[in-house]
Amino acid sequence: MSDHLEKFNLHEAARLSVAPMMDWTDRHCRHLHRLLSRRTLLYTEMVTAPALVRGGALHLLDFGEAEHPVALQLGGSDPAELAAAARLGHEAGYDEINLNCGCPSDRVQSGTFGAVLMRSPDLVAESCRAMIEAQPREVTVKCRIGVDDQVPEEVLPRFLEAVARAGVRRVTIHARKAWLQGLSPKENRDIPPLDYDLVFAMKQAFPELHVSINGGIAKLAQVEELLARGIDGVMIGRAAYHDPGAILCGADARVFGDEGGLDPDAAALAMLPYIEAHLADGGRLHQVTRHMLGLFTGRPGARAWRRMLSERATADGAGTEVVLDALAAMRERAAA
Ligand SMILES: Cc1cc2nc3c(=O)[nH]c(=O)nc-3n(C[C@H](O)[C@H](O)[C@H](O)COP(=O)(O)O)c2cc1C
Repeated sequence: MSDHLEKFNLHEAARLSVAPMMDWTDRHCRHLHRLLSRRTLLYTEMVTAPALVRGGALHLLDFGEAEHPVALQLGGSDPAELAAAARLGHEAGYDEINLNCGCPSDRVQSGTFGAVLMRSPDLVAESCRAMIEAQPREVTVKCRIGVDDQVPEEVLPRFLEAVARAGVRRVTIHARKAWLQGLSPKENRDIPPLDYDLVFAMKQAFPELHVSINGGIAKLAQVEELLARGIDGVMIGRAAYHDPGAILCGADARVFGDEGGLDPDAAALAMLPYIEAHLADGGRLHQVTRHMLGLFTGRPGARAWRRMLSERATADGAGTEVVLDALAAMRERAAA
């Protein structure tokens, strides 16, 4: 275990986390986020247990040492397969294994993963028990408050009780229902109303459980308020991706009472050696810089930065000079 890792207690790190987001929170994105915050817990995109266990797609587990503390999110509903996938995640070096019980996308529903599992607390509990027995890393759950016509006040406590009995000590609750018919995954992140009070009621009902709240949180001040109200952790998705400077740069000082990570300018420069290594491995510039577009959101010149990166980073042979030129363009704009 690295020195870096030993410094982190996951229940502490989970005071603030960046949500798992398919196609967004890949290893390049996580590398950037880690430069901005040394303490925030980071989640992978969802990786399905069948892809790992039946498909042997172990490359999906690749990540960098610098990313710790980092949690692997798994999708699946077969306890034995999830146990095998959790073991692979542990062997790959992840600090936590998280089970997705909140994602409503069609593909995920057809495989009986994600939010539809809110209907099967016993199966989720069995899966968690199998994952816990299979390996030593902490197993956590990310869920919704319910799906479709379920009554959240009834199903959520039953769901949490089942997973707690299975040995889960930490959960993240996306504080809205998922409507499995008729709404797109995107609509399911905005349309069903948020119910933070229910999440707080769950914290009271299950004081032993570490509860993180998720959904619609877009400012560090809100994180501070929610923590002060007694929740154990706050998970942020879209705002952390689109405006990582606003969420992550102040997080170490304001949420963890620690020295901060890098500011956006320093982080952009610190990405250069990482990008060089990625290009030397045969990767393309755009794969990394697409996650850097929001780095200067709200700052003068941010549009020039974004435009230059998006226009030039996809070209064949594009290298780190594009990032330096975009920084220069932004500064020029800001000075004008
Ligand atoms: C592009 C995108 C992809 C997502 N992929 C996942 C996923 O793989 N697993 C998951 O549990 N949630 C996923 N989510 C949901 C987020 O983790 C989070 O619960 C949701 O966006 C609400 O938080 P927010 O309002 O802070 O964005 C995704 C969200 C977005 C925007």
